[in-house]
Amino acid sequence: MTFFLSFHFYNPIRVSLMAFLLIVFTSSSSSSSSSSALSFDFYAASCPNVEMLVKNAVRSVSSTDSTLPGKLLRLLFHDCMVEGCDGSVLLRGNGTERTDPANTSLDGFSVVESIKQLLEVLCPGTVSCADILALAARDAVEMTGGPSVEVPMGRRDGRVSSASSVRSNIVDTSFTLDQMIQLFNSKGLSLDDLVTLSGAHTIGSAHCSAFSDRFEEDSNGKLKLIDGSLDKNYAAQLMNQCPVDANESTTVSNDPETAFVFDNQYYRNLVASKGLFQSDSVLFSDKRTREQVEKLAESQESFFGRWGESFMKLTVVDVKTGNEGEIRRECNVING
Ligand code: HEM
Repeated sequence: MTFFLSFHFYNPIRVSLMAFLLIVFTSSSSSSSSSSALSFDFYAASCPNVEMLVKNAVRSVSSTDSTLPGKLLRLLFHDCMVEGCDGSVLLRGNGTERTDPANTSLDGFSVVESIKQLLEVLCPGTVSCADILALAARDAVEMTGGPSVEVPMGRRDGRVSSASSVRSNIVDTSFTLDQMIQLFNSKGLSLDDLVTLSGAHTIGSAHCSAFSDRFEEDSNGKLKLIDGSLDKNYAAQLMNQCPVDANESTTVSNDPETAFVFDNQYYRNLVASKGLFQSDSVLFSDKRTREQVEKLAESQESFFGRWGESFMKLTVVDVKTGNEGEIRRECNVING
């Protein structure tokens, strides 16, 4: 096992991560061959300041644009679900992942690009775009008040990015709980991980079209609520923000209460029937996940503890390591 642990045990989240890592990296023969080549001190000799640089960059851009943390976090999610966490979502060009309609609302690419440009000056050809994205998403959570977690490094960048792989690997708000469970399971993510990672919707925003299936236009050209699982006042607020003739670029906050704070308000919203997407609401209405939602709604500490574990699992989905893939020189194009 080539897994090195370099963090200190002063924090309960880190301790639980350690326990998780020991299990994952020693017991799973199918995934350990790649993920075990990751390590916490992967860049200790080759680019020792990488984590500080990424953190400073994310802090700097977030202080001038409060929407960036949400964008970076979602970008990582969409990267990891398709071809694994290999930066494939960052590639530009005809027919790449980012051209698929499920990805056209993604943003935050330029932040990753800028960090890469800086790192290419300081540590040329060393740090993968996939690692930069994982760190940036981790820092985005911390920047908005969420837990500080460690993520191992050493991901390699993929050379394949195809729009045709997106649909079957990205969850849609119309999915049933069973469909979401199945997709998450196929990435090694459990039901608990699904509920915990959905807590990412405590920050960020969504276009009106992302939840318009909960309303329909009546004969007077006004919207009416057709999804009875949604709180009536919240629904009225949404219809006000997203009327029939809303501009297609109009967005609403995922979390109407504390839009820019990474906290457990998302779960309290679910309990109050204020989940924005059908796929959020179902986590409270289905008895398989209700108990966990209630637990996380009651305790932010529990959410933060679980987040550390689930986020770690997300960042190592199907990673490429060793001689696989490459270290891109630019994040939006494969090396020539
Ligand atoms: C489980 C099923 C999930 C579904 C169906 C879903 C769907 C969506 C949709 C439709 C949006 C709005 C996009 C837009 O209109 O611009 C969104 C936003 C977002 N999602 Fe999810 N998502 C899911 C899970 C996750 C997970 C696991 C994460 C991260 C770990 C995540 C992070 C985010 C973030 C941060 C935003 C806000 C993006 C922004 O502000 O630009 N989502 N999600």
